[in-house]
Amino acid sequence: MGKPTFYITTPIYYPNDKLHIGHAYTTVAADALARYKRLRGYDVMYLTGTDEHGLKIQQRAEKAGQEPLAYLDDIIAWIRDLWDRLDISYDDFIRTTEPRHTRVVEEIFERLIDQGDIYLGQYEGWYCTPCESFWSERELVDGKCPDCGREVQYVQEESYFFRMSKYVDRLLAYYEEHPEFIQPESRKNEMINNFIKPGLQDLCVSRTSFDWGIHVRRNPKHVVYVWLDALTNYITALGYLSEDADKRDRFHRYWPADVHFVGKDIVRFHVIYWPIILMALGLPLPRQVYGHGFFMMKDGKMSKSKGNVIDPKLLIERYGSDAIRYYLLREIPFGQDGVFTPESLLQRLNFDLANDFGNLVHRTAAMLGRFNGGVIPQPGLRQRLEEDLVKLAAETIPQVEDAMDSLQFSVALEHIWRLVRAANKYIDESAPWALNKAGERERLGTVLYTMCEAIRVASILVQPFLPRAAATIHARFQLSPDETSWESTRRFGALAAGKRVEAGEPLFPRLDVAAEVEALAAATQATQGAGVQAGGAAASAAVSEAGAVAATAGHAQVSGRTMARAESGQSHVDKDGGSPMSETQVQVKPQIGIDVFDQVELTVGQIRVAERIEGADKLLRLEVDLGSEVRQVVSGIAQYYQPEELVGQKAVVVTNLKPVKLRGVQSNGMILCASEGNQLKLVSVPDSIPNGAVVK
Ligand code: MSP
Repeated sequence: MGKPTFYITTPIYYPNDKLHIGHAYTTVAADALARYKRLRGYDVMYLTGTDEHGLKIQQRAEKAGQEPLAYLDDIIAWIRDLWDRLDISYDDFIRTTEPRHTRVVEEIFERLIDQGDIYLGQYEGWYCTPCESFWSERELVDGKCPDCGREVQYVQEESYFFRMSKYVDRLLAYYEEHPEFIQPESRKNEMINNFIKPGLQDLCVSRTSFDWGIHVRRNPKHVVYVWLDALTNYITALGYLSEDADKRDRFHRYWPADVHFVGKDIVRFHVIYWPIILMALGLPLPRQVYGHGFFMMKDGKMSKSKGNVIDPKLLIERYGSDAIRYYLLREIPFGQDGVFTPESLLQRLNFDLANDFGNLVHRTAAMLGRFNGGVIPQPGLRQRLEEDLVKLAAETIPQVEDAMDSLQFSVALEHIWRLVRAANKYIDESAPWALNKAGERERLGTVLYTMCEAIRVASILVQPFLPRAAATIHARFQLSPDETSWESTRRFGALAAGKRVEAGEPLFPRLDVAAEVEALAAATQATQGAGVQAGGAAASAAVSEAGAVAATAGHAQVSGRTMARAESGQSHVDKDGGSPMSETQVQVKPQIGIDVFDQVELTVGQIRVAERIEGADKLLRLEVDLGSEVRQVVSGIAQYYQPEELVGQKAVVVTNLKPVKLRGVQSNGMILCASEGNQLKLVSVPDSIPNGAVVK
């Protein structure tokens, strides 16, 4: 038996502009899944590409004074270079201007006319060129495009139409029989209620008013509607209707797609038009369409006119591809919207990557060097501390698998980081430096070995997200293929002793948050309006002028975090337990100055007592040690933590909130928590920070 197959796609991007960090998001997510599936033994086909036809592209090329193809070639080279820099492991890149695509689209169109699914008629209605969407009068909102809010044009022309209405019942039956087809779940209701229930119109599938596209063979004044052209990329790239038998085999091997990753803005095209086109062609339908959320900027949608677009190449150049990949997938739960802020990126970099993961690797290699000549020792008998870590590793692996299989990347990372943090804690508790001093060689050997083994396991788990760091660790620890397979994570102790470990530079440098934020703002301004080729260079120059990378951790601002308000016992977790927000609703708070932020007094404390409050399901009474005093705080986290789990944990407390009484119990502060799907977690503080430390 051959390997099972897994076919995953991204949308094909419009190359009418440089891609931004939002586009990179889909592609990074698909890449993490593709890498994970390969590690799990799948024969993966990962497809991405570009959607190169349409009026918008024609107009851009005209404006640039170039032929469309010449204009496109430059941008496509820029896009492919972006994916290379981001370590995107795509297996194929399709351009809709390639003959392998255009020929098949022409053929499909002919076939659909012949079998009566496409007919010639007269279109009268509204068209939004930026969205390449047709709208009826009643669908417009204030006379504008309901998707993007821009001006629409009245179009009156001879057009071909696709008989969508004929397939509606079969489509609804497919939804019914395959509840996993549209994910996240909430997008399905939106599709049915907003687009299908009001009555699915036949779709206009050709235009005669411009030229840049695939022409209808029997009637060449018609250009195939871009969405029909674009959607078919998923089958033409595989070799559907190819003249070459090997390519046709490829089609049969991988089709139907296991998952199409798309942004929520284009779910409609993928779960209504695309399945209907496939039904008309007699082809099986994709197994899943996943509509993820959007990365927004603090001031709303990313857009060039707002001047808030961040060039992904600039970020990669400055922080490395692993850091950007990690941030994108860790920061917001897949499916939900979130806000990109330089501050939150830098915090992730400093805390998760430099302090937690990078430091684990660095201190281990350093201690191995100092205490054992850089060689991985033989372990002796495991004690309680080792058993606990081994147990946690064993629990972590299926948790990561479950999260990855349900496309919850941020949850997978959270589980991995629990292990990483536990490994750091293990080092603190087992104190190898003390063992070395006391000459306890056997015990020291066990501890050093366990540290290396924890790193080996973590390095495999992080591989889909941090391919570079994983490869560096594997090289430094001289790991064999057997020691880096996914299955080997289940064998704690699989690491062969006796290898020499190279210490090397820290994997992730710590950065000065304030200096970096300033540097990025300057660079972003410099890139606005810069051309495709000039953008990177202009931005880099601006960065080096604006500030150099600092080697110490700057003070991080608390941003992008969710506060669990003790007073109400409520949090900002979505009401329905983490399901995505609606199309327009994004959690963006107004910008504040540092003076407003400074009014909040944040202090590190340690929870000494935690107990339930009678008659209150959501509330816990906490006693928090703030160094100089012990405070009583009532916190709305009873549904997320057992009281005993909290005792001993460090937390960040808002210490200057007005006292309130909740269920008759006085609360003198508030504990900060971060929300993750339907989970709420204390904002973590390293154990080494003393109680009473100021958070600023
Ligand atoms: N060409 C069509 C897709 C055809 S697929 C058969 C298209 N292209 S696009 O370039 O405009 O956008 C492609 C995708 O980029 C969006 O659907 C979405 O997946 C992603 N994103 C664009 N901006 C984004 C954010 N700000 N955040 C997250 N994803 C975003 O539509």
